[in-house]
Amino acid sequence: MLGPVLLAAARSDSIRRLVSAAPVTRPMVDRFVAGEQLEQCLTNVTSLTGRGMQVTVDHLGEDITDRSEALRNRDAYLALTDALAGAGLAEHAEMSVKLSAFGQALPGGHDLAQRNVLPVVEAATAAGTTVTLDMEDHTTVDSTLAILGQLRERFPRTGAVVQSYLFRTEDDCHALAGEGSRVRLVKGAYKEPADVAFQNKGEVDKAYVRCLKILMAGKGHPMVGSHDPRMVAIAQNLAERYGRKKDEYEFQMLYGIREAEQERLVAQGHGMRVYVPYGTDWYGYFMRRLAERPANMGFFLRSLVSR
Ligand code: FDA
Repeated sequence: MLGPVLLAAARSDSIRRLVSAAPVTRPMVDRFVAGEQLEQCLTNVTSLTGRGMQVTVDHLGEDITDRSEALRNRDAYLALTDALAGAGLAEHAEMSVKLSAFGQALPGGHDLAQRNVLPVVEAATAAGTTVTLDMEDHTTVDSTLAILGQLRERFPRTGAVVQSYLFRTEDDCHALAGEGSRVRLVKGAYKEPADVAFQNKGEVDKAYVRCLKILMAGKGHPMVGSHDPRMVAIAQNLAERYGRKKDEYEFQMLYGIREAEQERLVAQGHGMRVYVPYGTDWYGYFMRRLAERPANMGFFLRSLVSR
């Protein structure tokens, strides 16, 4: 029951202030966030790539409220691109962006986000890496997929994310399963209404498998974004069934979650990409991670009240 409450709290400014100021928050945040500053993030990225992982780096910052923040986020990504290239990491480290960090939710936001993300994708391509557009709540899906379509005309390796909890996603998978397409399939992390999304975990999981089949049978590069051991095993079976070699799909997991499983997949020769968030604006990301897992929530709430 606490999951939906935490997802609502993820968008509350007053709760943000309370949680951010609590001293007990820090160690929990450090588990999921690879540092507030770029240098710390690069150290973590270097450690992961040194252990055979691929990485996708997310500069945290979402749901911004004015245009200057969108420009700051764009510039942060440009600096990140330079830093990855300068450290010789561009081959193994790409970037994930949330279009809300580029102004998508502001008036005229679709065009604004498209304008702001373009130089990042250009710079990434010049540096020899790629960008994946994260997917946010269901009201943004059409805009995000339209921007993806535009970007892919010039930068065909730009990646998409689809969420199995949305009813529409099987159709989106069919549309995105073509040649050259990079698609990360996730279950979905936002609080969505019953008229657009499955509410029951069993149904979300079944939809995940249906979407996985479409992507594995297609011609693109499926990116299996899940920590769920059943989804990982099913993805391996489907890849075999559809004759995919290990470099024709990849697993993706979040920084700090199921690290032993990440290592195990690398040891088996699978592509394993870790999603590495960094930056000071970690609140929304952190709350979604708490909402996903009762054990995380319980630990965090106990430490708040025991002080
Ligand atoms: P599920 O929630 O069923 O968890 C399976 C198991 O994984 C759990 O039993 C537990 O062992 C472990 N686990 C899962 N979450 C955990 C946590 N927070 N802490 C500790 N253990 C945990 N969503 C979205 O809406 N848009 C996006 O762009 C992305 N991007 C993205 C990238 C990548 C690389 C990943 C892995 C995930 C996302 N997500 C996302 C989040 C995704 O939608 C989903 O909320 C989480 O991955 C949790 O779902 P699982 O598939 O892991 O399964």
